[in-house]
Amino acid sequence: MTHWTPDDIPWAEFRPDRLTPDLLKVVKAASMVERNAGDYTAYLIKVFRDDPTFRQIVVDWRAEEVQHGDVLGRYAELADPAFSFKDRFQRFVDGYKVPIDLEKSVRGSLTGELLARCIVETGTSSFYSAMRDATDEPVLKAICHRIAGDEFRHYKTFYDFMKRYIEREGVSVFRRALVAVGRIRETDDDELAYAYHAANDTADTPYDHARCNREYALRAWSLYRPQHTERAVNMVLKVIGIDTQGWIAGRAKSFAWKKMRTRAEALRRAA
Ligand SMILES: [Fe+2]
Ligand SMILES: [Fe+2]
Repeated sequence: MTHWTPDDIPWAEFRPDRLTPDLLKVVKAASMVERNAGDYTAYLIKVFRDDPTFRQIVVDWRAEEVQHGDVLGRYAELADPAFSFKDRFQRFVDGYKVPIDLEKSVRGSLTGELLARCIVETGTSSFYSAMRDATDEPVLKAICHRIAGDEFRHYKTFYDFMKRYIEREGVSVFRRALVAVGRIRETDDDELAYAYHAANDTADTPYDHARCNREYALRAWSLYRPQHTERAVNMVLKVIGIDTQGWIAGRAKSFAWKKMRTRAEALRRAA
């Protein structure tokens, strides 16, 4: 069951003059990744085969992620009538595969798996909050507001389950930090870059990971303001088990913001 439906979005209030082409490209790429999250469900259900409560949560989570993709896809079609969400999404799934055949968590433990999910939800919640705050196009703002709410709730759900598994598995703060850093690094992997390609490139443009990664990051990162980065850092520290008010947290927040700025600046120069 989802907490809202596409009927809650004020579609008729769309103001095309308030939507930039760059932002639309980001929306199109996001619609691919969100719609595909369902694929990850099969993997999670296998990995958590002994936890029926969590498996039900995964089923509900899937419905919400699929709805995110469908609503963003519908928005992209509204803004660009030449965009076919169905065809573009097909192109995405033909070229990008989530590793769903695995029987065991790729994170080394179920705690690690839940922690990695928390990192993903940290990324999505901050991304949709940043997009909501960056745009004054009313329909996109309304969509981002609802999706961001879902993503924060997903984070909370995975975090609560992770705490139970920490008790069972005894995964140390150090190991949790390794999983967190590993998952954050994967942000540069193929998923977002390929989504950008499938959603935005013409059919005869070859996939170029570095180019697509750069083009996506250039547009997505410029949406962020310090408050979005700070909240994301707090969420990451919390799952690792580090005090969000302490010295490490202060350093991590200024490091994250600086790193984001310098990378965004380097991307802008390269473009
Ligand atoms: Fe989502
Ligand atoms: Fe989510």
